Amino acid sequence: MIKRRSHTKEEIEGVRGCNEKAIAIAMGVEAMSRKRLMPFFNKITSEIIALGKDNGVALDIGTGHGLLPVLLARKARNMKVIGLDPADAMLEVGRRNAAQEKVGDRVSFQKGEGKVLPFSDCTFDLVLTTNSFHHWDNPVGSLNEIARVLKRDGVFYMADLRRNYLGLLPMIRLFRSLNIDSIRAAYTVEEICSLMSQTKLKTLDIKNSFLWIYLKAGKVV
Ligand SMILES: C[S@@+](CC[C@H](N)C(=O)[O-])C[C@H]1O[C@@H](n2cnc3c(N)ncnc32)[C@H](O)[C@@H]1O
Repeated sequence: MIKRRSHTKEEIEGVRGCNEKAIAIAMGVEAMSRKRLMPFFNKITSEIIALGKDNGVALDIGTGHGLLPVLLARKARNMKVIGLDPADAMLEVGRRNAAQEKVGDRVSFQKGEGKVLPFSDCTFDLVLTTNSFHHWDNPVGSLNEIARVLKRDGVFYMADLRRNYLGLLPMIRLFRSLNIDSIRAAYTVEEICSLMSQTKLKTLDIKNSFLWIYLKAGKVV
């Protein structure tokens, strides 16, 4: 098993700012995600709707280009979704996507990070995060923030890359553009379970797929 290596400050700050270069990088990430990740976003939104979370207010942390909240809003017409991200350029691309898909009245974007969520206690029916958790510099504090903003019967759904030595080589061949630094910064199921045990969230289900770890959790009440 390879050792975990957190993202460096430079890697994390790559898309900060909202200048032309940052927007171009954000649009490149969006184009790659549209090409490769739509089946993944489809699976997640279908699972969420099957859980009965098809109305109310949802938060997507580390939303990036906003493809997931836009798709969720298109499928769940009674749901409002807020996409949160620290990168201005990604938020700008997300806003354009929501407007293009005509869900701009129910999908909004806000600047922020997992460790200090700018929302009141018990606000959300659903908190989501995909491909972002491995970036967070205070995972336990951020998970406790999620517990705080979730309603009593709210659901936390996370899908993130998994760090796994055997999976690493085929992943590099299959997903040439997937950043190897992200795989190295990702967690294992055991590490996520250990982080979760230090929080006010209770794991309902956690499983591996080839590339991702999927977690469903509720709030300890
Ligand atoms: C690889 S992108 C994932 C985008 C999208 N959720 C997806 O599944 O394709 C990771 C995102 O996490 C954001 N991010 C980085 N650190 C974060 C933090 N501490 N809290 C919330 N989001 C963060 C980045 O700005 C970036 O947009």
